[in-house]
Amino acid sequence: MFSDIGIDLGTAKTVIVSGKTLLLSEPSVVLMDQYDEVPVSFGRYAQRALGRSTDRYQAVEPIERGVIANYDAAELMLNQYISRVVGKKLTKPRAVLAIPSGLTAVQHRSFIDAVQAAGIRGVCTVESSIAAALGMGIDFKKPHGSIVVDVGAGTTDVAVLSMGGLSRCETTKIGGVDLDDAIVRYMRREHNHAIGRASARAIKEQIGSAQPRPIEVVMMAKGIDLTTGLPSRVEVTANEVCDAMSDVIRDICRAVQSVVNNTPPELVGDISEDGIYLSGGTALLHGLAETLSGFLGVNVHLAKNVQLNVAKGIGIAMNHFDLLENGDYRFVTIQDLL
Ligand SMILES: Nc1ncnc2c1ncn2[C@@H]1O[C@H](COP(=O)(O)OP(=O)(O)OP(=O)(O)O)[C@@H](O)[C@H]1O
Ligand SMILES: [Mg+2]
Repeated sequence: MFSDIGIDLGTAKTVIVSGKTLLLSEPSVVLMDQYDEVPVSFGRYAQRALGRSTDRYQAVEPIERGVIANYDAAELMLNQYISRVVGKKLTKPRAVLAIPSGLTAVQHRSFIDAVQAAGIRGVCTVESSIAAALGMGIDFKKPHGSIVVDVGAGTTDVAVLSMGGLSRCETTKIGGVDLDDAIVRYMRREHNHAIGRASARAIKEQIGSAQPRPIEVVMMAKGIDLTTGLPSRVEVTANEVCDAMSDVIRDICRAVQSVVNNTPPELVGDISEDGIYLSGGTALLHGLAETLSGFLGVNVHLAKNVQLNVAKGIGIAMNHFDLLENGDYRFVTIQDLL
């Protein structure tokens, strides 16, 4: 039986592990009954209601851009997910929680508060970049620079690690949802066709590419004809989607470059030899690794399982706390922080 759990509370997805065991992976969504002010469903069931909300039933995404945007919904969701994996154990578990770098003290506290309120005895926060590095098996204890990039749904976390800790790090509020929004805007502008974020996401995941594809692929986009106001279907090509997403892709590349530009030369030398370590769900976008590699002129290595990589790293940290010896990593309660 496990005692402690690791949580990656992402903008799109919540993952809970215990050491090497995956306990839960669910979308970070709660469906709320606004009349009775109670949650109706969570995760993949609630996700189906995104973009289909009514006055009474509203699908809420409690995490926005990597931070808690709706505290009550975050607590309800964590409560549900934690009790699902912990069951009726007598002792409350402790949790190791992945967080973006650069949080304000208030944002940091609200994570601890929400996790504790959901039935956790003590919380140890670890930067997502450190967890991502551990997940990819990078040995960052040496005096040698490694750069880790995690492109999720709402954030791009970039960190240069050396001697057991973070040398440079930045969390930029850009990720998969910006690609979805760019597709929505493109369809309106070029096809006079309104589609929802969920459809845009499906188009991105199925035919999206960061680089033009040699063979054209097409897909039907269901939505509304903006002239007639009637339901309609429009054909969209992979190269159109590539065009639509190009500005966001460039911004993701620039976010990585900006951290490299602020990194001391010796560490940059190490990075150009070793390359970039890439994880996060958006790393699955066709051609993104190649585009990043071309933009920065270095190799890019992809994590084995990009979407579970941070959670895997947290699991490793739980079993090998010595790997975190260079930071102030300890279990705290909200009372310790007041
Ligand atoms: N095949 C794919 N092509 C492009 N994008 C993809 C693909 N599969 C998943 N994604 C995107 O990955 C994102 C989810 O990634 P991930 O699970 O790493 O996010 P998160 O950890 O919840 O977010 P964050 O770390 O920003 O808080 C979504 O935007 C999703 O659309
Ligand atoms: Mg993430």
